[in-house]
Amino acid sequence: ASPTFKLNTGATIPAIGLGTWQSKPEEVTAAVEHALKTGYRHIDCAWMYGNEAAVGEGIRRAGIPRSELFVTSKLWSTHHTRVAQSLQETLQNLGLDYLDLYLIHWPVPLNPNGNHPTIPTLPSGKRDVLEDWDIRDTWKQMEAVYREGKAKAIGVSNFSKLKLEHILATAEVVPAVDQLELHLYNPDPTLLAYLKEKGILPQAYSPLGSTGSPLLSDEVVVELAKKHSADPSAIALAYLLAKGIVALPKSVTPARITQNLEGPIKVKLDEEDVKKLDALAPGGKQRRFIAPPWPIELGFDNWPPLK
Ligand code: A2P
Repeated sequence: ASPTFKLNTGATIPAIGLGTWQSKPEEVTAAVEHALKTGYRHIDCAWMYGNEAAVGEGIRRAGIPRSELFVTSKLWSTHHTRVAQSLQETLQNLGLDYLDLYLIHWPVPLNPNGNHPTIPTLPSGKRDVLEDWDIRDTWKQMEAVYREGKAKAIGVSNFSKLKLEHILATAEVVPAVDQLELHLYNPDPTLLAYLKEKGILPQAYSPLGSTGSPLLSDEVVVELAKKHSADPSAIALAYLLAKGIVALPKSVTPARITQNLEGPIKVKLDEEDVKKLDALAPGGKQRRFIAPPWPIELGFDNWPPLK
């Protein structure tokens, strides 16, 4: 069975989940069905991916009891002012009556009258964001759906330490999770230490370094793959698990979906291996492959200005 971690709610979360960003609706149904039949119990979704209904169809086809599944989705940026309504839409898309985890997708509230995948600039030169919205109020609404039981746990995604401190100052529920771009080339040890101190579990999106990643052909990764008779992807994922990070590899290819669950479980990295892998990002040097859907400095520490 797949390893698990614990959330600060007491719930158990499978340490490996299937990512669904960029999975086309016509591919993702089969991918989810295959994943669940091969032993996955954790699926990571988002309203913004535009494929929740197709994911839901895959869940139904696999026929696994709901209580055995861990399903996450995320609140899109145009929905910060209407969390309950947006969650309801997501549940309807997925054909579920609760989520195991609901995350604020980005700490960036956009104009609710838009449906923006990016932030358009208005004729005035301003960006189409909700200047006056405080993300603490988004968190209050997240707490309300948690209390109602529509989301068994709530958390955030793409939140820096600064943004977390901001919401924690008034939060009644500590986020269960912060989902981030985390992999061998972008390990962010400073933020991870902070999350650990607060009892917030880190989750890694793009754990393989995303599509066409140089990470899987890195010399050190390939060498360790040989040593462990494993695929390079298994080394990249086993590293995250060893650090207590949930890994969410995306694939629509059946053999890779299976590999991404079975591969890392078999690899037992020793201390030397971990040291070698740590050294791929000297001093925690960050190298992101995923640009946020707006200028990169905007979604992290510097912007939007905190109220
Ligand atoms: P595909 O979906 O066509 O199988 P990440 O999760 O880091 O964002 O990486 C996802 C990308 O890596 C996708 O392009 C996916 O392709 C590919 N991928 C997923 N699993 C593996 C694997 N085990 N080996 C190589 N590439 C993989």
